[in-house]
Amino acid sequence: MKNRKQYIELQKDRFLSELFEILKLPSISADSAFNQDVLDTAELVKTYLEKAGCDNVEVCETPGYPVVYGEKIIDKNLPTILVYGHYDVQPADPIELWNSPPFEPVIKTTEIHPEGAIYARGACDDKGQMFMHIKAFEYMIQNNELPCNVKFMIEGEEEIGSPSLEWFLKEHTHKLKNDIILISDTGMISNTQPSITTGLRGLSYMEVTVTGPNRDLHSGLYGGAVANPINILTQMISKLLDADNRITIPGFYNNVEELSLAERAEMAKAPFSLDDYKKSLNIQEVHGENGYTSNERNSIRPTLDVNGIWGGYTGQGAKTVIPSKAYAKISMRLVPGQDHKEISELFSSYFKSIAPKSVSVETTSHHGGHPYVTPTDHIGYLAAKKAYQKTFNCTPIPQRSGGSIPIVALFENELNSKSILMGFGLDSDAIHSPNEHFGVFNFLKGIETIPLFYKYFTELSS
Ligand code: BES
Ligand code: MN
Ligand code: MN
Repeated sequence: MKNRKQYIELQKDRFLSELFEILKLPSISADSAFNQDVLDTAELVKTYLEKAGCDNVEVCETPGYPVVYGEKIIDKNLPTILVYGHYDVQPADPIELWNSPPFEPVIKTTEIHPEGAIYARGACDDKGQMFMHIKAFEYMIQNNELPCNVKFMIEGEEEIGSPSLEWFLKEHTHKLKNDIILISDTGMISNTQPSITTGLRGLSYMEVTVTGPNRDLHSGLYGGAVANPINILTQMISKLLDADNRITIPGFYNNVEELSLAERAEMAKAPFSLDDYKKSLNIQEVHGENGYTSNERNSIRPTLDVNGIWGGYTGQGAKTVIPSKAYAKISMRLVPGQDHKEISELFSSYFKSIAPKSVSVETTSHHGGHPYVTPTDHIGYLAAKKAYQKTFNCTPIPQRSGGSIPIVALFENELNSKSILMGFGLDSDAIHSPNEHFGVFNFLKGIETIPLFYKYFTELSS
């Protein structure tokens, strides 16, 4: 116990400078201009896994970016933990809103992180959290405390929907065999009130194109006489939600799992201040589906959001034009009971059905993913709970998150394994936003807590 804290305290500066090396590489999977950086990051992760004491470390090819694999098998009769994480990151833009360059990590203190936070794209999502696992493993190897087998699977396409992972799981089913999957790629309530993520939402991500006339037109000569695709698109989008902020797509809510009043009362016990929430976002009022609280709206309820909309003239000054085309990216977060393929189809046929004859509409589906819920009576959950109790001196609260990690449902289907989501980030860490950061406290606490999960999971398994 003392040992672990001492080791971390002694090695802390090295841990941070190693993490900085990973953060310096712009491994943006969405942008092919960074192709080589993504591949270099995979190699660097491989190096760190080897240095930490992993065997059979390889950069495994896939149809897309590689998966870095490594393992330490100490005894076939002991349980095996599969650690999943991702080394790719979101694009950094808008770059001008960063206070320091996104790929030049620095530590700065904040009100929430008085011990300092690491500022860089990927600091929290997910390089910093993934690296906690490599360092926790290093600690266990160095101190002869590894109680079970471990396999690492660190991918490079999470931020683009893990398109190669189903292939990878099918190809390497035997190699990836495990008793539990451990993931740190989510958050917790606060540094004094840890929580364990027990649910993730699914996702259906669509792109729509509305086409009017065959070319851009002078808006004086033609305006008023032909459909303007942008006008039409915005009218169509406004029909997707009603006055109660419920999604109008027929059949959308058909299989949505409703929580009982008792379950909702249990959820409401989690500490939450609506005032602080509004203050932190500088908004006067919250918004969402009638009849639900903010925490319910962003976790147990499905949603529909336009993520981007474009078309026409957006350059300097004015140009009087009716564009030929208008576009939007629209995503829906899904909850247990909803199937992303079915929802994508319901969306497409409804969206086409509300289009006037004056335009034509095309829809395509980007990535999707199924929702996931972890049972709190599973030994994996119990082991995680005991680990947090020990390091935070406080019982963690189970909490369903609004984010998505589509691979988690795939793990359940392909490998028949449950995933435990021990995330150490905070909602305020600005993941996917400018000035993403990760608390030094959180980073070190993760390294301290992870070995205890190994210990308790092994004990509870026997
Ligand atoms: N780590 C996040 C997901 C997350 C963050 C879940 C915080 C819960 C709490 C992951 O990297 C992510 O960004 N997922 C995407 C989906 C993916 C298919 C692009 C998301 O949720 O938008
Ligand atoms: Mn992530
Ligand atoms: Mn992400």
